[in-house]
Amino acid sequence: MILSENCYKNVRFYSDKIEGEGVKTCDDAFSAFLFYDRIVMKGIGQKEGEQMKDQVQWDSFVHSCRNCERCELAKTRTNVVIGRGTNLSAPVMLVGEGPGQQEDLTGEAFVGRAGKQLDHLLNALMFDPEDYYICNIVKCRPPKNRVPLGEEAHACLPWLRYQVKYIKPAILVCLGSTALKYLVGDDVRITRIRGTWLDRPGFFRIMPTYHPSAVLRDPTKREEMFLDMKKVREYLQTLRQQP
Ligand code: URA
Repeated sequence: MILSENCYKNVRFYSDKIEGEGVKTCDDAFSAFLFYDRIVMKGIGQKEGEQMKDQVQWDSFVHSCRNCERCELAKTRTNVVIGRGTNLSAPVMLVGEGPGQQEDLTGEAFVGRAGKQLDHLLNALMFDPEDYYICNIVKCRPPKNRVPLGEEAHACLPWLRYQVKYIKPAILVCLGSTALKYLVGDDVRITRIRGTWLDRPGFFRIMPTYHPSAVLRDPTKREEMFLDMKKVREYLQTLRQQP
C-alpha cells in the first residue's frame, strides 16, 4: 500500500509516542495497522488509535485516487477532484456529475458557478458546512464538460463507493440526472422523481433533485430545488432529535 506524506506524518506522530518501549518506528502502512493495536494496548486510547487507523485509510484512498488512470479522463485532467467537505463523517453527501473547468484547475469540487449556486442554497437553508460532503460521479473533468461516458462513470464508481462506505452518510442527494442514473438507475427521470425520498433501509435515504447548473439555465427550477433541499434539512433535524 502506498501512503501519502500526511499519512506518514500521522504514523510517525503515534510511533514516537510508543518508541523507547521496545517498538521500532514504523514507516509503512502495514506497520501502521499493527501500531494501531499497540497504541490501544499501551492505553494511549481507543479513540486516538481508531482516528489514526481511519486517517491512514483515508489518506491511502486519497493518494490512490489522485494517481488513478482507470479511464481516458486521466489523460486530459489537471487535477483529480475527490470531494469537498470538512467533515468526513458528514450526515449528508451531495453527488454531482463531474468536475468542470474551475474544479479541474483547483482540485476542489463545486467551486465554479454551479458550486456558488449550490452554496447559496445550502446557506439559505442554514446547513452547517459540517453537515455535508460534496463529490461527483466522476473525479476527472470530461473534455468540454460533456456528460461522462458509461465506461468512465463505471471506472470511477468504486472510488465513490469507498467514500460512501467511509463517510456513512444518512442522506445521499443526487444532483441531476447523471448522479441519479448511476446511483439509482437508468429507468428514472429527474423531473418525475425529484423531491421524493428513496429509501435504502440500513444504509441511507436518497433525495433526487436538480443539478445546480440546471437551475442556472432555468431559474424556474430554483424553487423546486429549494423545496427538495428543505426536505433534506428537515429530515436531518429529525435525525438529530432522535435519542
Ligand atoms: N458540476 C458538477 O457536477 N460537479 C462539479 O464539481 C462542478 C460542476
